Amino acid sequence: MIAAADFNITKVKQSKLAGISLDNVTFGKYFSDHMLEVDYENGEWKIPSIKPYQPLSLAPSLAALHYGQAIFEGIKAYKDAAGQAFIFRPYDNFRRFNISAERMEMPTIPEEIFIEGLRQLINIDKDWIPAKANHSLYIRPFMFSSDEAIGVRPSDKYKFLIILSPTGPYYAAPMRIHVEEKYVRAVPGGYGYAKAAGNYGGALHASAEAQKEGYDQVLWMDAFEHKYVQECGTMNAFFIIGNTVITPGLEDGTILEGVTRDSTIVILKEMGYVVEERKLSIEEIMDAYKAGILKEIFGTGTAATISLIKELKYKDFLMTFDVSKWSIAPEVKQRMDAIKYGEVADNHQWMFKI
Ligand code: COI
Repeated sequence: MIAAADFNITKVKQSKLAGISLDNVTFGKYFSDHMLEVDYENGEWKIPSIKPYQPLSLAPSLAALHYGQAIFEGIKAYKDAAGQAFIFRPYDNFRRFNISAERMEMPTIPEEIFIEGLRQLINIDKDWIPAKANHSLYIRPFMFSSDEAIGVRPSDKYKFLIILSPTGPYYAAPMRIHVEEKYVRAVPGGYGYAKAAGNYGGALHASAEAQKEGYDQVLWMDAFEHKYVQECGTMNAFFIIGNTVITPGLEDGTILEGVTRDSTIVILKEMGYVVEERKLSIEEIMDAYKAGILKEIFGTGTAATISLIKELKYKDFLMTFDVSKWSIAPEVKQRMDAIKYGEVADNHQWMFKI
């Protein structure tokens, strides 16, 4: 077992932070001073290193580049008014990371590397956590196969890394969404529930086509009938019909079990709403819209937090909303933010103190 004191730590001589403004910083543009790197070889994880953020030197034959054995996570760290740093629900991401690893036939990672690695890395780079509303430090743990061989098989070697990127709001404005009828993201028996790189690479073409038509993202539908809603771009999707909130269920393995999705469900229930995790057809959504009871639609995700959807287009049928009149999704976001920024008691034990 690897102990916290075993980590090899090399710090930068001078932080890059002095030359960077963290105000409204674009998602994924800057990376903090340090990163964590650890290798898996001969059936075991080696001692992790925390070192200056730097390029990797990789062979052209690197297995991950050819067959896509690559997974990642998205987590965020926040600062409260006193400057204390916290990570939001890291154990949930740790658990999901290992579920993704198993699905992609990769080794799981022990808690003493994933959680302790997060803690030590963020402790070193805590000045990179922006102290501003809607800002945070995005944490990107990832793992890829690192055998230098192009035979199609699980690798013997893997690399696990954590990098950190300060971020402002992800989607600046409410979104326009196109219901996708041609391309699909996930099928039962596939790996839609895993946070595997291929799920994101495979989605880019559909997003690009939707963006050419002026939409921000697509609403993914089931692969067999194009009838039931799955995810919205890279987010989980929520629909409020009457006083019931509906989000697609996890039972088919086509939906990522989002940490923000779960936090949203918990908060909605505390607000007194009935939340149903179940199949939801596009007909049911359109019928609710026509009946005037489709109240709010929004996406949830770590990067985007809660993103309101102002337009949903299915074939020739356009559903538009005046999001300035909405109250439910904004209240969920406000309640979740109050927990994240330490403004209210953390009754769920969601915040992990650094
Ligand atoms: C996240 O919300 O963390 C995501 O994974 C979405 C995207 C940035 C890949």
